[in-house]
Amino acid sequence: MEIRRRTLLKGGIAAAAQFLVGCGSTVKSGTPLMGFRPVPFAKGFGPMPVISEDYEYEVLIPWGMPLQPDGPAYQHPAIETQAEQVGIGHDGMAYFPIAEDGTRGLLALNHEYGRNTHVLGKPVPESLADVRTSQYAHGASVVEIASVDGKWQRVASDYARRIHGNDKVTFSGPVAGNPALENQANNPYAGTFANCSNGQTPWNTYLTCEENFNLYFAASGVFTPTESQKRYGFNNTGAFYGWHLFDKRFDLSDPGFKNEVNRFGWVMEIDPFDPNQVPVKRTALGRLKHEGAGHAVNAEGRLVVYMGDDQRFEHIYKFVSADNWQAMQARGVSPLDEGVLYTARFDEGGKGEWLALTADNPKLAAFKDQADILINTRLAATALGATDMDRPEWTTVAPNGDVYCTLTNNVQRTVPNAANPQAPNPNGHIIRWRDSDDFVGTTFTWEIFLISDKHYAKEESFGSPDGLWADPDGRLFLMTDGPQRAKHNNQLLVADTKTGEIRRLLTGVAGCEITGITTTPDRKTLFANFQHPGNGDPKLTSFPAEFDEKTIPRDCTLAIRRRDGGIVGS
Ligand code: FEO
Ligand code: CA
Ligand code: CA
Repeated sequence: MEIRRRTLLKGGIAAAAQFLVGCGSTVKSGTPLMGFRPVPFAKGFGPMPVISEDYEYEVLIPWGMPLQPDGPAYQHPAIETQAEQVGIGHDGMAYFPIAEDGTRGLLALNHEYGRNTHVLGKPVPESLADVRTSQYAHGASVVEIASVDGKWQRVASDYARRIHGNDKVTFSGPVAGNPALENQANNPYAGTFANCSNGQTPWNTYLTCEENFNLYFAASGVFTPTESQKRYGFNNTGAFYGWHLFDKRFDLSDPGFKNEVNRFGWVMEIDPFDPNQVPVKRTALGRLKHEGAGHAVNAEGRLVVYMGDDQRFEHIYKFVSADNWQAMQARGVSPLDEGVLYTARFDEGGKGEWLALTADNPKLAAFKDQADILINTRLAATALGATDMDRPEWTTVAPNGDVYCTLTNNVQRTVPNAANPQAPNPNGHIIRWRDSDDFVGTTFTWEIFLISDKHYAKEESFGSPDGLWADPDGRLFLMTDGPQRAKHNNQLLVADTKTGEIRRLLTGVAGCEITGITTTPDRKTLFANFQHPGNGDPKLTSFPAEFDEKTIPRDCTLAIRRRDGGIVGS
């Protein structure tokens, strides 16, 4: 384990260095970035995926598959063995290679959500055991996979584990130890749920981002939300998970657990190579409905993390570590614990400013201290004049230093602003910016990379871009989650960031979103997730089984390869 770890750390540093000088490209000049035959728009409907004729896919780790080959078998509805099985709602994901050639490694992935009717086979939990099963279906998984005889599969593992909605976690950074995180039982079993997109650190850990955490809370009695709780969307009913009926942590009207709401909405760090590590919620990155955590490492070795807060009219953030990340680790400090959190104001004329969410900022005098600012990040960002955006989702940093963010849609917008020019904006857009001072400056320049509506009537038609990944060659992979033209299935497309050309690589199955993107180091396999296929309805799809109108569809991961063994996206 130690040897592997050191090898991997070296790999991580090498990868970061490669990123900085942008020499990871494999494309000879004059070769088009995308040579694959796109999936025609007309084919992207129905119960089965459609992939480019130049590509093939395999399915692995569906919901309910045991983490270990000899683990408890999938069954539907789920029972408490769910804690030893792959969760539901596959979302953000990262690959951590173990084998030198990348053919064996760990997939860390999020399990964003699963409705009771789907997971439990009933709308409301009837016991604490039901609630636990639902909590076990949420969170994250670490699964070991390998390409054996050319076929990707889950394999027995010393690392595989589940982190779920009733698990031990710790807090670090400015809010750690704060009374605002204490509950009556003072138990460490906060767990994690609503895990949306993700990040991957230069030191080979996984970042899982808590998004719609408010929906798991509800009130059995009187609940009067504070201004902040209203802003985070807490209300009496949540999304009808019914966890509060048997687990008082989730009862908004229980005075013993009034702080429980503050224990969610964070970016949490998981070490996939240490199955005994207690995951750490990194409070310096703010409390929001976190979507993703794409990062850059600048020439000084400072870590910069870009984050969206996915709700209509919410903001974009970046966190800048205090120092070179390796120097910080050498003195025993996490680079994610000390630094400055900023929020973005996009101004007219393609200029913008990063506004510091720090206690010494006079505009934040109404907040008690740094912890108060971080727990109420949304309110603090608005107080600074951050721009209200059209649902900021994933972020990704391209090798040339451009940062991209998907703004998935906003049907409620009536007043446009410079960075969100469509009112309403039913199909979304993608913005990109370039930070001053090698990522750590407080000013930036920006432009709109694409507006989905401009493509909507065309062959490459798409809407609601969400998942995003900039590869080292200048391709931008985008994944959709939302209504498409003519009820087309959601899709994975590839854009050439220089020419603006967009091609469709894959279409999903009815009812699913496509999300979660990561590759092997050689970029010959790309892993992507199908989340909520058929929304659980076998009348729409039985995927990954053949369509029979009876078999319940299951969230799963696709391993995608070019038939000729080339780089994915080419
Ligand atoms: Fe979890 Fe914003 O999608
Ligand atoms: Ca998403
Ligand atoms: Ca989305």
